[in-house]
Amino acid sequence: MYKKAGLSLNRKRYGPKVFKIYSMNILKGETTMSELQNVMTPIEIRSMVLNNRVVMPPMGTNLGNSDGTVSKENIAYIRRRAQGQPGLIITEITGVHPSGIVSPNQLGAYDDRFIPGLSELVSAAHDEGCKIALQIHHAGRESVFLLKQKKAIAPSAIPSIVFRGEPRAMTIDEIKEIAAAFGAAARRARNAGFDAVELHCAHGYLLMQFLSALSNQRTDEYGGSTLKERSRFPVEVIQTVRRDVGPDFPISVRISMEESIKGGYTAEEMQTVLPSFVEAGADIIHASFGTHGSPGGITQAPPEYKPGFNAWLARKAKDAVSVPVIAVGRFTDPFQADEVIGKKDADLVAFGRQFLSDPDFLIKAKEGRPQDIRRCIACNQGCIEREMLGEGNIRCSINPETGQETVYPEGPAAVPRNVWVVGAGPGGLVAASEANRLGHRVTLFEKEETLGGQTRYARIPPAKETYGEWIDWLIDQVKKTDVTIKPCTEVTARLLEEQKPEYVILATGGEKIIPDIDGCDRDIVCDAWQILRGEVKPEKRILVIGGGLIGMEVADYLSEKGSEITLVEMLPRSPVLKITSHGYMLHSRLREKKSTLLFGTKVVSIGEDSVEVETAGEKTTLKDIGQVVMAVGLRAKDELKDALSSLNIPHAVIGDAKAARRIIEATEEGARAAWEI
Ligand SMILES: Cc1cc2nc3c(=O)[nH]c(=O)nc-3n(C[C@H](O)[C@H](O)[C@H](O)COP(=O)(O)OP(=O)(O)OC[C@H]3O[C@@H](n4cnc5c(N)ncnc54)[C@H](O)[C@@H]3O)c2cc1C
Ligand SMILES: Cc1cc2nc3c(=O)[nH]c(=O)nc-3n(C[C@H](O)[C@H](O)[C@H](O)COP(=O)(O)O)c2cc1C
Repeated sequence: MYKKAGLSLNRKRYGPKVFKIYSMNILKGETTMSELQNVMTPIEIRSMVLNNRVVMPPMGTNLGNSDGTVSKENIAYIRRRAQGQPGLIITEITGVHPSGIVSPNQLGAYDDRFIPGLSELVSAAHDEGCKIALQIHHAGRESVFLLKQKKAIAPSAIPSIVFRGEPRAMTIDEIKEIAAAFGAAARRARNAGFDAVELHCAHGYLLMQFLSALSNQRTDEYGGSTLKERSRFPVEVIQTVRRDVGPDFPISVRISMEESIKGGYTAEEMQTVLPSFVEAGADIIHASFGTHGSPGGITQAPPEYKPGFNAWLARKAKDAVSVPVIAVGRFTDPFQADEVIGKKDADLVAFGRQFLSDPDFLIKAKEGRPQDIRRCIACNQGCIEREMLGEGNIRCSINPETGQETVYPEGPAAVPRNVWVVGAGPGGLVAASEANRLGHRVTLFEKEETLGGQTRYARIPPAKETYGEWIDWLIDQVKKTDVTIKPCTEVTARLLEEQKPEYVILATGGEKIIPDIDGCDRDIVCDAWQILRGEVKPEKRILVIGGGLIGMEVADYLSEKGSEITLVEMLPRSPVLKITSHGYMLHSRLREKKSTLLFGTKVVSIGEDSVEVETAGEKTTLKDIGQVVMAVGLRAKDELKDALSSLNIPHAVIGDAKAARRIIEATEEGARAAWEI
């Protein structure tokens, strides 16, 4: 049953490991309710009884009010997740002390004034029959907000690997104060009605900073050369929380079972301290992994990591303690979770991003329709990276309802209309599906035979299979509705004039940019799309023009096929950021394949088997080039806009047709357009 996940990247970096993956019954389509018997078995943990073993782990949303109190958006978001009937929801990081917040709108539990709002979160979960725990947190040095003000504190004055700025080493008095603050916050959680608390001792935040030799170099009783010695502060915090919440209130401790960074602690070391956590009062061990700066953002693993890939870490925790253990890491399939629990690798399974892409996944599995589950594609674009890059609050690339629960219309629309959606890429498909859900009469036009737009190509490069699975799912879902689908039908100005639809959503995507380079009409030149659809056979030595996402991905694809790649990009740095998990993986693979990436370089001319390039005013000729692949991007294809305006047809232009961007913009704008008809 167990297979090796074949994850060479990770294995190389952290030494040999046993990687197990579990069968994916969802994909096999052979499911019965009885297969969920482990997941659906209730579990009792001190005063808390959970209806099932599915946990929604904490996920920061950025939805809080600017003073750290709970907003109506927070409540709507939690209620929607609770409607999916997990056994337990654990809320996002909630600050125990002003010295450890990551932003002013991070939820707080460091004052009684937060209790009323927190109680409302509890009611939202309880109304839906779901238990809820508050995750209490101190950021230590991992707060850009406090680092910028020179107010961040940490075990030692060692800069954050990611954010750089230097924190101040905590005094003994501060250590005592923060331990007491955890206790007080936990007591407030209990008073607010929470069923449990979770201490955030993972992902490189304060409690873990004490555990890690990379951030704790104290020479007093809170430091030391062993993990055991460095665990003193977390143990004292657990003891304080236990003292303050009393004997019956459940305490979960979220740890990074493995630090997953060079020089970090191992799972075997973690096993040596877990018994003391339990002795101090921990009732649940939540076995996460990784820290700030772990390569590729492994804590929110990209699609290179298979669902359930880290269940072995939960097993390691279970081998060390006898309290219930939660496994986490790319789970998307309740049947797989059932198997993990059945094999006693974990007692509960957390589904993080899966709760963003489809909060109803457990209900769908229970109802015997797992094929309807919108499985997380692990792109991180709408959730963790959107928040990390300051692009806004929580969203999901493939589920436009997420983070927008307060504006998401239940429908039906007041006036059902005859709506045309032009273009069946991600934007058009979501627009059609949402407009149909709201009761409009929808016709979806696609000029190609196959639906999916650019995702027909986006699914082809390495590690992009999840995108393909999602678009197939979306097409399938639209086909199940009464949307009229017209493939091989190009909408023209004339057709619009003849048929005058009541409303048009223009989702016609982008069109390729063809750069004006001397020699670009030569035989050795083709484009990324011709390569990806197999129309042009790759040569041995290839020059890719364009270092945006499409250029990088086609280079990745070609180097996997054995071609030697030189990539030329005019911008001084790669527009595909290495701090995103996908960007990290792309850059790593290209480096491993010894591809040459030339930034700040432009192509001057293309010869028969050579290309002249210019870097900082200096020209060079690259010789023996067998093929030149153009990937200079797309521009909006919106020529029908003028016709719609002159015909006075109400319309919205969405996705790449508005400006060539990404899937998240296409799906979000597609949904919005449908909501606003
Ligand atoms: C190789 C590759 C990799 C990518 N990887 C990613 C990624 O990892 N993440 C990400 O977010 N984005 C990625 N993208 C970009 C992403 O695919 C696009 O941003 C997204 O598909 C835009 O969706 P859309 O619906 O706006 O347009 P499109 O997907 O372009 O769909 C437009 C559709 O309209 C049809 N059409 C056009 N004119 C008409 C007409 N007159 N009548 C009828 N039909 C018409 C077209 O045939 C097409 O099917 C990638 C793109 C490529 C090419
Ligand atoms: C948007 C986002 C915010 C997160 N915020 C938190 C958090 O507040 N506390 C925490 O312990 N983990 C946080 N995590 C990590 C998740 O709890 C979870 O461990 C991670 O997403 C891996 O699970 P998954 O692969 O099922 O998504 C966050 C993850 C995401 C995607």
